[in-house]
Amino acid sequence: MDFSIKNIQLECRALLGSVYPIREIDSILFLVFEKVGNLSRLQIISNSDTKISISVYNQIMGIVERLLNYEPIQYILEETEFYGLLFKVNQSVLIPRPETEELVHWIVEDGKNKPVKAIDFGTGSGCIAISLAKLIPDSKVHAVDISEQALLVASENALRNGTVLTFHQADILTDAFGFLAADFDLVVSNPPYIREKEKVLMQRNVLDYEPVTALFVSDADPLIFYRRIAQLSKKLLKKGGALYFEINEGLGNEMIQLLEELNYLEIELRCDLHGKRRMMKATQS
Ligand SMILES: C[S@@+](CC[C@H](N)C(=O)[O-])C[C@H]1O[C@@H](n2cnc3c(N)ncnc32)[C@H](O)[C@@H]1O
Repeated sequence: MDFSIKNIQLECRALLGSVYPIREIDSILFLVFEKVGNLSRLQIISNSDTKISISVYNQIMGIVERLLNYEPIQYILEETEFYGLLFKVNQSVLIPRPETEELVHWIVEDGKNKPVKAIDFGTGSGCIAISLAKLIPDSKVHAVDISEQALLVASENALRNGTVLTFHQADILTDAFGFLAADFDLVVSNPPYIREKEKVLMQRNVLDYEPVTALFVSDADPLIFYRRIAQLSKKLLKKGGALYFEINEGLGNEMIQLLEELNYLEIELRCDLHGKRRMMKATQS
């Protein structure tokens, strides 16, 4: 067999075609070639006759086997890009999503580079908190998660991206966060928001691999995290400070009502690039 890039692409398409669309296979392969073969996207496109070693070929086939079991490529490669930064990920953290990048973009645009004191509830890989620390220089960023394993990943990511944050292992639902001063400019959260009843709509790559504690809430009280964080934020935020949430696209109206009941001002709901109601902002009265 000829171990050229072109042939391997064809072989991978044939093997993975029953599980992934061709375009997705090709973008996964760019990542794989880059990681295990040290080949850039440009080299792959312009020199597809280049031969790779049998050891790289074997590594690629090992990855294909895991992809066939629906394991996300980000967990296989143990990294992903978020808002132009590189993050380590493993099964103790949610894989950062593009809609969360849009939320970060909103915050960064609003901030206009003015340093902030911010806190991220449910930080996971740290993607939101670390991006803010990196993109809004001189900010002081705190990040909270219940999972010790997630916080280990997040602190490694902070180091990797040259940022210094303060991490807290705490339970959003029960901790009073009395150790935090009431002088925050910004609270942000992408908490668990998928209702148990929505599980049937979800793909195996999420259900079999991503952490359950990061994803689900009960059908009976899907806004439990939002209510708690919005209540805590009444104490933590300065007057005029801002609260940002990523939300379940099906619960926008309920979220507006919740924030109105807590006397937040300037409540704004935004759609993501796919037109789904995914992000909210509200201001402390
Ligand atoms: C949807 S994930 C978001 C992760 C990350 N912020 C992101 O946007 O990719 C929610 C995070 O909340 C954390 N979490 C779940 N329940 C929690 C609780 N009771 N207290 C604190 N964190 C919690 C999970 O461990 C998970 O990391």
